[in-house]
Formats: sequence, C-alpha cells, structure tokens
Amino acid sequence: MADDAGRDECTPLPRRRFLARSLWAAVGTIAGTLAVIGLVPVVAPAFRKASSRLSPVGPVGGALEPGGPDLSIEGTPVLASFTGIVKDAAGQAERQETSVYVLNGGNGQFTVFDTRCTHLGCPVRWYQAVEQFICPCHGGAFDLEGKVVAGPPPRSLDRYQWEVQDGVLYAGLPLDAGSGS
Ligand code: FES
Repeated sequence: MADDAGRDECTPLPRRRFLARSLWAAVGTIAGTLAVIGLVPVVAPAFRKASSRLSPVGPVGGALEPGGPDLSIEGTPVLASFTGIVKDAAGQAERQETSVYVLNGGNGQFTVFDTRCTHLGCPVRWYQAVEQFICPCHGGAFDLEGKVVAGPPPRSLDRYQWEVQDGVLYAGLPLDAGSGS
C-alpha cells in the first residue's frame, strides 16, 4: 500500500498484484449485479404502485361481499369508492375516501366517474329507469358517458385514471376536468 503512494503513475503494477486487484474488481461487480437483480422482484411492485399513486377500488371479477360493489356488471354504473389523493386547503396532497361510479364497458375497459356534480359539487346518483346520473340540487343530468344533458352543470362528470392489476381495479389521480366531454 505504502509503496503505491510514492510510485510513478506510469510504473506498471507487479503482475500478481494486478491480477489480485482485477479478480477482486470482478467479484465485486458480479456480487453487486446479483444483489440488484435479487432485489428487483421485491422492490419493483412497491415502487410501481407508489409512483402511479393508485388505490384499489375492487376486484373486477365480482363483489367481495354480498351487497358490495360488483364491478363485473357491464353497461351499468356501479357505486364504489377508493382512497383518492386530493389537495387540502393549503394545497398539500392528502388521501381521502372518494366515491365514484365505475362503468364496466366490457373488454377490460372501465370509466371511473367522480360522483360530484360539476355545478356545485352535490353527489349525483345513477337512475337506471332514465339511464342518467341526476343531481338533486339543481336538476343537473348526465348521460351514461357523463356528458351533460340537462341543467346548469358546465361540463361532463370528472373522471379518474384507472388500471387493472392482477384482477383488481385501481383508481388514481383525476383526469383533466371534463375530459369526458
Ligand atoms: S350542484 Fe348539481 S346541478 Fe347544481
């Protein structure tokens, strides 16, 4: 070691020491690579969920419990909920239980509607008889796609990002306001 400090940079290492250092460098590289590969399956799922900010809504194959939201029903909005991310009065993100209507469009396609009317925020309700979301506050009405068909709401129902992972529907951040119009 001490003799290395004073040695001219151009002076070649003795062959045995060079081989030993090369061997240790190779062992270190292989060990590091194996450690990273071994951690990928453990770390990746958590990282993916954390980065995508998704929360479970429910299984797409049917209700978990009697009376629970059955997301396997196609063509009819189903009332459900998930833990959404909203901003508080100070603009800080916080998690909050969020009501949604989930429309299973078939072929693995879903629409996740915010239940709040886009007029003043009253909760809308789906009426199968007229096939509309109706707001009780001022008579706002929206069709199956969330588009305004009556009343004062200025835009379509808001929607959330969604994704199906391992048979479970997840929802995340709101899409652009009124993107369904
Ligand atoms: S809050 Fe829904 S129509 Fe006014």
